[in-house]
Amino acid sequence: MFYITTAIDYPNGAPHIGHAYEKILTDVIARHRRLAGDDAYFLTGVDQHGQKMQQTAEKEGVNVATLANRNTKKFIALWKKLGVQYDGWAETTADLHKQCVQNILTKLHDEGQLYKKAYKGFYSVRQEQYLTEKDRNEAGEFGPEWGEVIELEEENWYFKLSEHAEWLKEVVTSGEFGITPAFRRNEVLNALERAADTDLCISRPKDRLHWGIELPFDTDFVTYVWFDALINYISFAGYEAAENLPDFDKLWPADLHVIGKDILVPAHAIYWPCMLHAMGFTNEQMPTLLVHGFLNIRGEKMSSSLGNIVDPDALAEQFGAETLRYYLVRDVVIGKDADFDVQRLVTLYNTELANDLGNLCNRALSMSKRSLGGIMEASDYDDDDSAALRKSLADSTAAYNEAMESYDTSAALRALNKHVSFCNGYAERNKPWELAKDETQRAKLASVLYHMVESCAHISVLLSPVTPEACAKIHNQLRLPELAEKKSTDLAWGLVPAGHEVGKPKPVFPRIQLEE
Ligand code: MSP
Repeated sequence: MFYITTAIDYPNGAPHIGHAYEKILTDVIARHRRLAGDDAYFLTGVDQHGQKMQQTAEKEGVNVATLANRNTKKFIALWKKLGVQYDGWAETTADLHKQCVQNILTKLHDEGQLYKKAYKGFYSVRQEQYLTEKDRNEAGEFGPEWGEVIELEEENWYFKLSEHAEWLKEVVTSGEFGITPAFRRNEVLNALERAADTDLCISRPKDRLHWGIELPFDTDFVTYVWFDALINYISFAGYEAAENLPDFDKLWPADLHVIGKDILVPAHAIYWPCMLHAMGFTNEQMPTLLVHGFLNIRGEKMSSSLGNIVDPDALAEQFGAETLRYYLVRDVVIGKDADFDVQRLVTLYNTELANDLGNLCNRALSMSKRSLGGIMEASDYDDDDSAALRKSLADSTAAYNEAMESYDTSAALRALNKHVSFCNGYAERNKPWELAKDETQRAKLASVLYHMVESCAHISVLLSPVTPEACAKIHNQLRLPELAEKKSTDLAWGLVPAGHEVGKPKPVFPRIQLEE
Protein backbone atom coordinates (compact mmCIF):
# COMPACT_ATOMS: atom_id res chain seq x y z
CA MET A 1 0.00 0.00 0.00
CA PHE A 2 1.33 3.43 -0.94
CA TYR A 3 0.72 5.57 2.13
CA ILE A 4 0.88 9.29 1.39
CA THR A 5 0.14 12.22 3.71
CA THR A 6 0.24 15.99 3.62
CA ALA A 7 1.01 18.43 6.40
CA ILE A 8 -2.10 19.06 8.46
CA ASP A 9 -3.10 22.71 8.16
CA TYR A 10 -3.76 25.16 10.97
CA PRO A 11 -7.44 26.06 10.58
CA ASN A 12 -6.92 29.54 12.01
CA GLY A 13 -8.36 31.18 8.91
CA ALA A 14 -9.49 30.12 5.46
CA PRO A 15 -7.21 27.91 3.35
CA HIS A 16 -4.93 29.79 0.93
CA ILE A 17 -3.29 28.89 -2.35
CA GLY A 18 -0.22 27.39 -0.60
CA HIS A 19 -2.41 24.94 1.31
CA ALA A 20 -4.24 24.15 -1.93
CA TYR A 21 -1.05 23.51 -3.89
CA GLU A 22 0.15 20.95 -1.36
CA LYS A 23 -3.16 19.07 -1.24
CA ILE A 24 -3.55 19.06 -5.03
CA LEU A 25 0.03 17.91 -5.56
CA THR A 26 -0.55 15.07 -3.08
CA ASP A 27 -3.87 14.17 -4.66
CA VAL A 28 -2.24 14.01 -8.10
CA ILE A 29 0.54 11.76 -6.79
CA ALA A 30 -1.98 9.48 -5.03
CA ARG A 31 -4.16 9.23 -8.14
CA HIS A 32 -1.08 8.54 -10.24
CA ARG A 33 0.03 5.72 -7.93
CA ARG A 34 -3.39 4.13 -8.43
CA LEU A 35 -3.05 4.61 -12.19
CA ALA A 36 0.34 2.87 -11.95
CA GLY A 37 -1.33 -0.11 -10.27
CA ASP A 38 -0.66 0.54 -6.57
CA ASP A 39 -3.18 0.70 -3.78
CA ALA A 40 -2.86 4.16 -2.26
CA TYR A 41 -4.02 5.61 1.04
CA PHE A 42 -4.09 9.40 1.26
CA LEU A 43 -4.32 11.09 4.67
CA THR A 44 -4.75 14.80 5.24
CA GLY A 45 -6.47 16.96 7.83
CA VAL A 46 -6.17 19.85 10.23
CA ASP A 47 -3.88 20.71 13.12
CA GLN A 48 -6.37 22.20 15.53
CA HIS A 49 -4.37 22.74 18.73
CA GLY A 50 -1.67 25.20 19.70
CA GLN A 51 -0.97 28.76 20.55
CA LYS A 52 -1.72 30.15 17.08
CA MET A 53 -5.25 28.81 17.29
CA GLN A 54 -5.70 30.07 20.85
CA GLN A 55 -4.42 33.53 19.88
CA THR A 56 -6.67 33.85 16.83
CA ALA A 57 -9.67 32.78 18.90
CA GLU A 58 -8.81 35.38 21.55
CA LYS A 59 -8.44 38.07 18.90
CA GLU A 60 -11.76 37.18 17.33
CA GLY A 61 -13.45 36.79 20.70
CA VAL A 62 -14.67 33.25 20.01
CA ASN A 63 -14.25 29.96 21.76
CA VAL A 64 -11.21 28.20 20.30
CA ALA A 65 -13.07 24.94 19.65
CA THR A 66 -15.74 26.92 17.78
CA LEU A 67 -13.05 28.62 15.71
CA ALA A 68 -11.37 25.30 14.92
CA ASN A 69 -14.65 23.67 13.87
CA ARG A 70 -15.80 26.62 11.83
CA ASN A 71 -12.56 26.89 9.88
CA THR A 72 -12.12 23.14 9.54
CA LYS A 73 -15.37 23.14 7.54
CA LYS A 74 -13.81 25.63 5.10
CA PHE A 75 -10.89 23.29 4.48
CA ILE A 76 -13.17 20.28 3.97
CA ALA A 77 -15.41 22.24 1.58
CA LEU A 78 -12.43 23.46 -0.43
CA TRP A 79 -10.90 20.00 -0.80
CA LYS A 80 -14.24 18.73 -2.07
CA LYS A 81 -14.47 21.55 -4.57
CA LEU A 82 -10.91 20.99 -5.79
CA GLY A 83 -11.33 17.22 -6.20
CA VAL A 84 -8.84 16.45 -3.41
CA GLN A 85 -9.91 12.90 -2.68
CA TYR A 86 -8.43 11.76 0.59
CA ASP A 87 -9.05 8.41 2.25
CA GLY A 88 -8.41 9.46 5.84
CA TRP A 89 -9.13 12.76 7.58
CA ALA A 90 -7.03 13.77 10.60
CA GLU A 91 -8.40 16.19 13.20
CA THR A 92 -6.12 16.47 16.17
CA THR A 93 -9.00 17.12 18.59
CA ALA A 94 -10.38 13.63 17.82
CA ASP A 95 -10.44 11.31 20.85
CA LEU A 96 -8.56 8.53 19.10
CA HIS A 97 -5.70 10.92 18.35
CA LYS A 98 -5.60 12.34 21.90
CA GLN A 99 -5.53 8.80 23.26
CA CYS A 100 -2.69 7.84 20.94
CA VAL A 101 -0.62 10.93 21.86
CA GLN A 102 -1.16 10.28 25.57
CA ASN A 103 -0.22 6.60 25.25
CA ILE A 104 2.99 7.56 23.49
CA LEU A 105 3.79 10.19 26.14
CA THR A 106 3.17 7.67 28.93
CA LYS A 107 5.44 5.13 27.28
CA LEU A 108 8.25 7.65 26.68
CA HIS A 109 7.87 8.91 30.27
CA ASP A 110 8.03 5.37 31.68
CA GLU A 111 11.12 4.66 29.62
CA GLY A 112 12.96 7.74 30.89
CA GLN A 113 12.88 9.62 27.57
CA LEU A 114 11.23 12.66 29.19
CA TYR A 115 12.39 14.92 32.02
CA LYS A 116 11.25 18.11 33.73
CA LYS A 117 13.44 21.22 33.87
CA ALA A 118 13.16 24.93 34.64
CA TYR A 119 13.75 27.32 31.75
CA LYS A 120 14.43 31.02 31.73
CA GLY A 121 14.91 32.76 28.41
CA PHE A 122 13.37 33.84 25.15
CA TYR A 123 10.38 32.39 23.36
CA SER A 124 9.04 32.96 19.82
CA VAL A 125 5.28 33.27 19.88
CA ARG A 126 4.99 32.81 16.13
CA GLN A 127 7.09 29.65 15.95
CA GLU A 128 5.86 28.44 19.34
CA GLN A 129 9.40 27.57 20.34
CA TYR A 130 12.06 28.47 22.91
CA LEU A 131 15.03 30.29 21.49
CA THR A 132 18.69 29.83 22.26
CA GLU A 133 21.67 32.10 21.69
CA LYS A 134 22.25 30.23 18.41
CA ASP A 135 18.97 31.57 17.08
CA ARG A 136 20.23 35.17 17.12
CA ASN A 137 21.32 36.61 13.77
CA GLU A 138 24.65 38.21 12.95
CA ALA A 139 23.50 41.48 14.49
CA GLY A 140 22.88 39.59 17.74
CA GLU A 141 19.10 39.92 17.42
CA PHE A 142 16.24 37.51 16.95
CA GLY A 143 15.32 38.11 13.32
CA PRO A 144 11.84 38.84 11.94
CA GLU A 145 11.28 35.14 11.15
CA TRP A 146 10.66 34.61 14.88
CA GLY A 147 7.86 37.19 15.04
CA GLU A 148 7.12 38.44 18.55
CA VAL A 149 9.81 37.26 21.02
CA ILE A 150 9.03 37.33 24.73
CA GLU A 151 11.03 36.54 27.87
CA LEU A 152 9.80 33.64 29.93
CA GLU A 153 10.60 31.73 33.07
CA GLU A 154 8.84 28.41 33.46
CA GLU A 155 9.16 24.71 34.16
CA ASN A 156 8.52 22.30 31.35
CA TRP A 157 8.89 18.74 30.14
CA TYR A 158 11.65 17.83 27.70
CA PHE A 159 12.20 14.96 25.30
CA LYS A 160 15.79 13.67 25.10
CA LEU A 161 16.13 14.52 21.43
CA SER A 162 19.92 14.86 21.67
CA GLU A 163 20.24 11.14 22.47
CA HIS A 164 19.01 10.39 18.96
CA ALA A 165 21.09 12.95 17.06
CA GLU A 166 23.95 10.61 16.11
CA TRP A 167 21.54 7.96 14.94
CA LEU A 168 19.64 10.57 12.90
CA LYS A 169 22.82 11.70 11.17
CA GLU A 170 23.45 8.11 10.14
CA VAL A 171 19.98 7.46 8.71
CA VAL A 172 19.89 10.78 6.87
CA THR A 173 23.32 10.08 5.36
CA SER A 174 22.48 6.47 4.47
CA GLY A 175 19.15 7.52 2.95
CA GLU A 176 17.20 5.18 5.23
CA PHE A 177 15.34 8.30 6.28
CA GLY A 178 14.55 9.60 2.82
CA ILE A 179 14.43 13.30 1.97
CA THR A 180 13.54 14.45 -1.55
CA PRO A 181 14.58 16.50 -3.47
CA ALA A 182 18.11 15.42 -2.50
CA PHE A 183 19.47 18.96 -1.98
CA ARG A 184 17.26 19.28 1.10
CA ARG A 185 19.26 16.55 2.79
CA ASN A 186 22.23 18.87 3.25
CA GLU A 187 19.99 21.42 4.84
CA VAL A 188 19.03 18.80 7.41
CA LEU A 189 22.61 17.68 8.03
CA ASN A 190 23.66 21.30 8.57
CA ALA A 191 20.81 21.88 10.98
CA LEU A 192 21.80 18.74 12.86
CA GLU A 193 25.30 20.09 13.35
CA ARG A 194 23.80 23.15 15.00
CA ALA A 195 21.08 21.47 17.07
CA ALA A 196 22.64 18.17 18.06
CA ASP A 197 22.96 19.05 21.72
CA THR A 198 19.48 20.51 22.32
CA ASP A 199 16.54 18.61 23.74
CA LEU A 200 12.97 19.33 22.73
CA CYS A 201 10.54 21.04 25.05
CA ILE A 202 7.31 19.06 24.60
CA SER A 203 4.98 20.80 27.06
CA ARG A 204 3.38 24.18 27.66
CA PRO A 205 2.09 25.25 31.08
CA LYS A 206 -1.70 25.35 31.08
CA ASP A 207 -1.81 28.85 32.53
CA ARG A 208 -0.28 30.05 29.25
CA LEU A 209 -1.78 27.57 26.80
CA HIS A 210 -4.86 25.54 27.60
CA TRP A 211 -5.73 24.45 24.05
CA GLY A 212 -3.85 21.19 23.74
CA ILE A 213 -3.61 17.58 24.85
CA GLU A 214 -3.00 17.22 28.58
CA LEU A 215 0.18 15.43 29.66
CA PRO A 216 -1.07 12.18 31.21
CA PHE A 217 1.57 12.29 33.99
CA ASP A 218 1.45 16.02 34.82
CA THR A 219 -1.93 17.68 34.31
CA ASP A 220 -0.62 21.23 34.75
CA PHE A 221 0.69 20.98 31.21
CA VAL A 222 -0.53 20.42 27.68
CA THR A 223 1.50 18.85 24.87
CA TYR A 224 3.53 21.10 22.55
CA VAL A 225 1.56 21.40 19.32
CA TRP A 226 4.23 19.87 17.07
CA PHE A 227 4.66 16.80 19.26
CA ASP A 228 0.88 16.37 19.07
CA ALA A 229 0.51 17.15 15.34
CA LEU A 230 3.30 14.94 13.99
CA ILE A 231 1.72 11.93 15.66
CA ASN A 232 -1.32 12.30 13.35
CA TYR A 233 0.62 10.40 10.68
CA ILE A 234 0.49 7.27 12.80
CA SER A 235 -2.58 7.79 15.03
CA PHE A 236 -4.93 8.07 12.04
CA ALA A 237 -3.12 5.20 10.33
CA GLY A 238 -4.19 2.84 13.11
CA TYR A 239 -1.06 2.79 15.30
CA GLU A 240 -1.78 0.62 18.36
CA ALA A 241 -5.49 1.27 17.90
CA ALA A 242 -8.37 -1.04 18.60
CA GLU A 243 -10.79 1.16 16.69
CA ASN A 244 -12.07 0.79 13.21
CA LEU A 245 -8.98 2.26 11.55
CA PRO A 246 -6.71 1.17 8.72
CA ASP A 247 -4.35 -1.74 9.30
CA PHE A 248 -1.20 0.05 10.49
CA ASP A 249 1.14 -2.69 9.34
CA LYS A 250 -0.16 -2.31 5.79
CA LEU A 251 0.33 1.47 5.76
CA TRP A 252 3.52 2.08 7.68
CA PRO A 253 6.13 3.29 6.90
CA ALA A 254 4.66 6.27 5.05
CA ASP A 255 5.94 6.24 1.48
CA LEU A 256 5.64 10.00 1.38
CA HIS A 257 5.02 12.88 3.78
CA VAL A 258 4.39 15.84 1.47
CA ILE A 259 5.38 19.04 3.28
CA GLY A 260 6.52 22.59 2.60
CA LYS A 261 10.13 23.67 3.04
CA ASP A 262 9.30 25.77 6.12
CA ILE A 263 8.41 22.74 8.20
CA LEU A 264 11.30 20.50 7.16
CA VAL A 265 13.74 21.69 9.85
CA PRO A 266 13.34 21.09 12.69
CA ALA A 267 9.85 19.54 12.81
CA HIS A 268 9.77 16.84 10.13
CA ALA A 269 13.45 16.15 9.65
CA ILE A 270 14.57 16.24 13.28
CA TYR A 271 11.74 15.94 15.80
CA TRP A 272 9.69 13.40 13.89
CA PRO A 273 12.33 10.74 13.10
CA CYS A 274 13.73 11.07 16.64
CA MET A 275 10.25 10.65 18.11
CA LEU A 276 9.70 7.54 16.00
CA HIS A 277 13.11 6.19 16.97
CA ALA A 278 12.38 6.75 20.65
CA MET A 279 9.08 4.90 20.24
CA GLY A 280 11.02 1.91 18.93
CA PHE A 281 10.59 2.29 15.16
CA THR A 282 13.47 0.73 13.24
CA ASN A 283 15.53 2.27 10.42
CA GLU A 284 13.42 0.37 7.89
CA GLN A 285 10.33 1.95 9.41
CA MET A 286 11.37 5.54 8.73
CA PRO A 287 9.10 7.53 6.40
CA THR A 288 10.22 9.50 3.32
CA LEU A 289 9.72 13.26 3.00
CA LEU A 290 8.80 15.09 -0.17
CA VAL A 291 9.58 18.76 0.36
CA HIS A 292 7.91 21.31 -1.89
CA GLY A 293 8.71 24.99 -2.31
CA PHE A 294 6.61 28.04 -1.57
CA LEU A 295 4.10 29.87 -3.71
CA ASN A 296 4.90 33.55 -3.52
CA ILE A 297 3.26 36.65 -4.89
CA ARG A 298 5.56 38.73 -7.08
CA GLY A 299 8.52 37.34 -5.19
CA GLU A 300 7.01 38.17 -1.81
CA LYS A 301 5.73 35.84 0.85
CA MET A 302 1.96 35.68 1.12
CA SER A 303 0.74 37.21 4.35
CA SER A 304 -2.35 38.82 5.73
CA SER A 305 -0.33 41.87 6.78
CA LEU A 306 0.70 42.43 3.13
CA GLY A 307 -2.88 41.71 2.09
CA ASN A 308 -1.71 39.50 -0.78
CA ILE A 309 -3.31 36.20 0.19
CA VAL A 310 -4.60 34.31 -2.85
CA ASP A 311 -7.92 32.56 -2.31
CA PRO A 312 -8.11 29.21 -4.12
CA ASP A 313 -11.87 29.04 -3.66
CA ALA A 314 -12.40 32.22 -5.69
CA LEU A 315 -10.00 30.98 -8.39
CA ALA A 316 -11.86 27.68 -8.67
CA GLU A 317 -15.14 29.60 -8.97
CA GLN A 318 -13.77 31.84 -11.67
CA PHE A 319 -11.69 29.42 -13.75
CA GLY A 320 -12.79 25.94 -12.67
CA ALA A 321 -11.19 23.58 -10.17
CA GLU A 322 -9.37 21.55 -12.80
CA THR A 323 -7.87 24.64 -14.40
CA LEU A 324 -6.37 25.48 -11.01
CA ARG A 325 -5.21 21.88 -10.50
CA TYR A 326 -3.53 21.84 -13.90
CA TYR A 327 -1.86 25.20 -13.40
CA LEU A 328 -0.46 24.37 -9.97
CA VAL A 329 1.13 21.04 -10.78
CA ARG A 330 2.19 22.14 -14.27
CA ASP A 331 3.74 25.48 -13.40
CA VAL A 332 5.32 24.76 -10.02
CA VAL A 333 8.45 22.65 -10.36
CA ILE A 334 8.66 20.24 -7.46
CA GLY A 335 10.93 21.47 -4.70
CA LYS A 336 11.24 25.01 -6.05
CA ASP A 337 9.48 28.22 -5.10
CA ALA A 338 7.14 29.71 -7.67
CA ASP A 339 5.27 32.95 -8.18
CA PHE A 340 1.53 32.64 -8.35
CA ASP A 341 0.47 34.41 -11.53
CA VAL A 342 -3.11 34.43 -12.70
CA GLN A 343 -2.13 35.49 -16.21
CA ARG A 344 0.09 32.45 -16.44
CA LEU A 345 -2.77 30.25 -15.20
CA VAL A 346 -4.94 31.51 -18.06
CA THR A 347 -2.14 31.25 -20.63
CA LEU A 348 -1.16 27.70 -19.70
CA TYR A 349 -4.77 26.56 -19.73
CA ASN A 350 -5.61 28.28 -23.00
CA THR A 351 -2.45 27.05 -24.71
CA GLU A 352 -2.01 23.51 -23.49
CA LEU A 353 -5.59 22.47 -22.68
CA ALA A 354 -7.98 24.63 -24.73
CA ASN A 355 -5.84 24.99 -27.87
CA ASP A 356 -3.61 21.93 -27.94
CA LEU A 357 -5.50 19.05 -26.30
CA GLY A 358 -9.00 20.48 -26.75
CA ASN A 359 -8.34 21.12 -30.40
CA LEU A 360 -6.88 17.65 -30.95
CA CYS A 361 -9.88 15.91 -29.36
CA ASN A 362 -12.34 18.10 -31.23
CA ARG A 363 -10.86 17.72 -34.64
CA ALA A 364 -10.15 13.98 -34.19
CA LEU A 365 -13.75 13.27 -33.18
CA SER A 366 -15.53 15.72 -35.46
CA MET A 367 -13.63 14.56 -38.53
CA SER A 368 -14.15 10.92 -37.63
CA LYS A 369 -17.86 11.60 -37.29
CA ARG A 370 -18.09 13.59 -40.48
CA SER A 371 -15.99 11.48 -42.80
CA LEU A 372 -16.12 7.97 -41.29
CA GLY A 373 -19.55 8.06 -39.66
CA GLY A 374 -17.71 7.81 -36.36
CA ILE A 375 -16.52 4.24 -37.05
CA MET A 376 -12.81 3.76 -36.41
CA GLU A 377 -11.53 1.47 -39.13
CA ALA A 378 -8.65 -0.97 -39.11
CA SER A 379 -6.58 0.29 -42.02
CA ASP A 380 -3.42 -1.17 -43.50
CA TYR A 381 -2.14 2.26 -44.49
CA ASP A 382 1.10 3.27 -42.78
CA ASP A 383 3.87 5.75 -43.43
CA ASP A 384 6.84 7.37 -41.73
CA ASP A 385 4.83 10.18 -40.19
CA SER A 386 2.42 7.72 -38.55
CA ALA A 387 5.33 5.67 -37.28
CA ALA A 388 6.81 8.88 -35.89
CA LEU A 389 3.51 9.62 -34.13
CA ARG A 390 3.54 6.20 -32.48
CA LYS A 391 7.13 6.78 -31.42
CA SER A 392 6.24 10.23 -30.08
CA LEU A 393 3.46 8.69 -27.99
CA ALA A 394 5.76 5.96 -26.66
CA ASP A 395 8.48 8.49 -25.83
CA SER A 396 6.06 10.91 -24.15
CA THR A 397 4.48 8.12 -22.12
CA ALA A 398 7.90 6.91 -20.97
CA ALA A 399 8.98 10.46 -20.07
CA TYR A 400 5.69 11.05 -18.25
CA ASN A 401 6.04 7.83 -16.25
CA GLU A 402 9.65 8.55 -15.37
CA ALA A 403 8.86 12.10 -14.25
CA MET A 404 5.88 10.99 -12.18
CA GLU A 405 8.01 8.36 -10.45
CA SER A 406 10.10 11.23 -9.10
CA TYR A 407 6.99 13.37 -8.47
CA ASP A 408 8.03 15.89 -11.11
CA THR A 409 4.50 16.69 -12.22
CA SER A 410 5.61 19.66 -14.30
CA ALA A 411 7.98 17.59 -16.43
CA ALA A 412 5.33 14.87 -16.74
CA LEU A 413 2.75 17.33 -18.09
CA ARG A 414 5.24 18.90 -20.45
CA ALA A 415 5.95 15.40 -21.81
CA LEU A 416 2.23 14.85 -22.50
CA ASN A 417 1.89 18.22 -24.15
CA LYS A 418 4.79 17.40 -26.43
CA HIS A 419 2.85 14.49 -27.87
CA VAL A 420 -0.34 16.52 -28.20
CA SER A 421 1.61 19.13 -30.16
CA PHE A 422 3.06 16.39 -32.34
CA CYS A 423 -0.47 15.18 -33.09
CA ASN A 424 -1.68 18.63 -34.06
CA GLY A 425 1.33 18.99 -36.38
CA TYR A 426 0.53 15.56 -37.80
CA ALA A 427 -3.03 16.69 -38.53
CA GLU A 428 -1.73 19.83 -40.24
CA ARG A 429 0.69 17.80 -42.35
CA ASN A 430 -1.75 15.04 -43.31
CA LYS A 431 -4.83 17.25 -43.70
CA PRO A 432 -7.58 14.69 -43.12
CA TRP A 433 -10.12 17.31 -44.24
CA GLU A 434 -8.49 17.17 -47.71
CA LEU A 435 -8.13 13.38 -47.69
CA ALA A 436 -11.87 13.11 -47.02
CA LYS A 437 -12.59 14.74 -50.37
CA ASP A 438 -10.74 12.02 -52.29
CA GLU A 439 -12.21 8.49 -52.27
CA THR A 440 -8.82 6.96 -53.28
CA GLN A 441 -7.33 8.27 -49.99
CA ARG A 442 -9.84 6.41 -47.81
CA ALA A 443 -7.30 4.03 -46.23
CA LYS A 444 -4.95 6.90 -45.38
CA LEU A 445 -7.83 8.96 -43.98
CA ALA A 446 -8.92 6.10 -41.71
CA SER A 447 -5.36 5.59 -40.51
CA VAL A 448 -4.67 9.27 -39.85
CA LEU A 449 -7.89 9.67 -37.86
CA TYR A 450 -7.22 6.45 -35.97
CA HIS A 451 -3.81 7.77 -34.92
CA MET A 452 -5.38 10.99 -33.68
CA VAL A 453 -8.25 9.33 -31.81
CA GLU A 454 -5.97 6.69 -30.29
CA SER A 455 -3.69 9.48 -29.05
CA CYS A 456 -6.67 11.17 -27.39
CA ALA A 457 -7.45 7.90 -25.60
CA HIS A 458 -3.90 7.56 -24.24
CA ILE A 459 -3.58 11.19 -23.21
CA SER A 460 -6.96 11.16 -21.44
CA VAL A 461 -5.80 8.23 -19.30
CA LEU A 462 -2.40 9.73 -18.48
CA LEU A 463 -3.81 13.16 -17.70
CA SER A 464 -6.60 11.80 -15.48
CA PRO A 465 -4.73 12.22 -12.14
CA VAL A 466 -4.60 15.97 -12.83
CA THR A 467 -7.94 16.70 -14.52
CA PRO A 468 -10.10 13.68 -13.67
CA GLU A 469 -13.46 15.16 -14.65
CA ALA A 470 -12.32 16.53 -17.99
CA CYS A 471 -10.67 13.18 -18.80
CA ALA A 472 -13.87 11.32 -17.93
CA LYS A 473 -15.67 13.59 -20.42
CA ILE A 474 -13.13 12.69 -23.10
CA HIS A 475 -13.60 8.99 -22.30
CA ASN A 476 -17.35 9.43 -22.72
CA GLN A 477 -17.01 11.28 -26.01
CA LEU A 478 -14.75 8.48 -27.22
CA ARG A 479 -17.51 6.15 -25.93
CA LEU A 480 -14.82 4.28 -24.01
CA PRO A 481 -15.77 4.79 -20.33
CA GLU A 482 -13.72 1.70 -19.53
CA LEU A 483 -10.59 3.85 -20.05
CA ALA A 484 -11.18 5.04 -16.47
CA GLU A 485 -10.19 1.54 -15.27
CA LYS A 486 -6.96 1.36 -17.27
CA LYS A 487 -3.60 1.21 -15.57
CA SER A 488 -0.67 3.09 -17.05
CA THR A 489 0.96 -0.29 -17.67
CA ASP A 490 -1.99 -1.34 -19.92
CA LEU A 491 -1.49 1.47 -22.37
CA ALA A 492 -0.45 -0.46 -25.47
CA TRP A 493 -1.39 0.80 -28.94
CA GLY A 494 -4.96 -0.24 -29.76
CA LEU A 495 -7.03 1.15 -26.88
CA VAL A 496 -9.62 2.04 -29.51
CA PRO A 497 -10.88 -1.27 -30.99
CA ALA A 498 -11.27 -1.54 -34.77
CA GLY A 499 -14.90 -0.98 -35.70
CA HIS A 500 -15.53 1.07 -32.56
CA GLU A 501 -17.94 3.98 -32.95
CA VAL A 502 -16.84 7.21 -31.26
CA GLY A 503 -19.25 9.86 -30.00
CA LYS A 504 -19.70 13.51 -30.86
CA PRO A 505 -17.16 16.05 -29.64
CA LYS A 506 -18.16 18.73 -27.20
CA PRO A 507 -15.50 21.19 -26.02
CA VAL A 508 -14.02 19.90 -22.76
CA PHE A 509 -11.69 22.86 -22.27
CA PRO A 510 -13.54 26.02 -23.35
CA ARG A 511 -11.18 28.97 -23.80
CA ILE A 512 -10.94 31.44 -20.95
CA GLN A 513 -11.47 35.05 -22.04
CA LEU A 514 -10.00 37.43 -19.49
CA GLU A 515 -11.64 40.80 -19.24
CA GLU A 516 -9.16 43.66 -19.10
N1 MSP B 1 0.18 22.68 11.22
C1 MSP B 1 1.50 22.72 10.69
C2 MSP B 1 1.86 21.40 10.01
C3 MSP B 1 1.77 20.19 10.90
S1 MSP B 1 2.17 18.74 10.03
C4 MSP B 1 2.26 17.55 11.19
C5 MSP B 1 1.59 23.84 9.65
N2 MSP B 1 0.43 24.30 9.17
S2 MSP B 1 0.29 25.46 8.08
O1 MSP B 1 -1.12 25.64 7.88
O2 MSP B 1 1.04 26.59 8.48
O3 MSP B 1 0.95 24.93 6.77
C6 MSP B 1 0.47 23.73 6.18
C7 MSP B 1 1.27 23.37 4.94
O4 MSP B 1 1.09 24.39 3.97
C8 MSP B 1 2.77 23.26 5.20
O5 MSP B 1 3.32 22.15 4.53
C9 MSP B 1 3.32 24.54 4.61
O6 MSP B 1 4.62 24.41 4.13
C10 MSP B 1 2.35 24.74 3.46
N3 MSP B 1 2.33 26.13 3.03
C11 MSP B 1 2.00 27.23 3.77
N4 MSP B 1 2.19 28.34 3.01
C12 MSP B 1 2.63 27.98 1.78
C13 MSP B 1 2.89 28.65 0.58
N5 MSP B 1 2.83 29.96 0.47
N6 MSP B 1 3.24 27.90 -0.49
C14 MSP B 1 3.27 26.53 -0.46
N7 MSP B 1 3.02 25.87 0.65
C15 MSP B 1 2.79 26.56 1.80
O7 MSP B 1 2.69 24.21 9.29
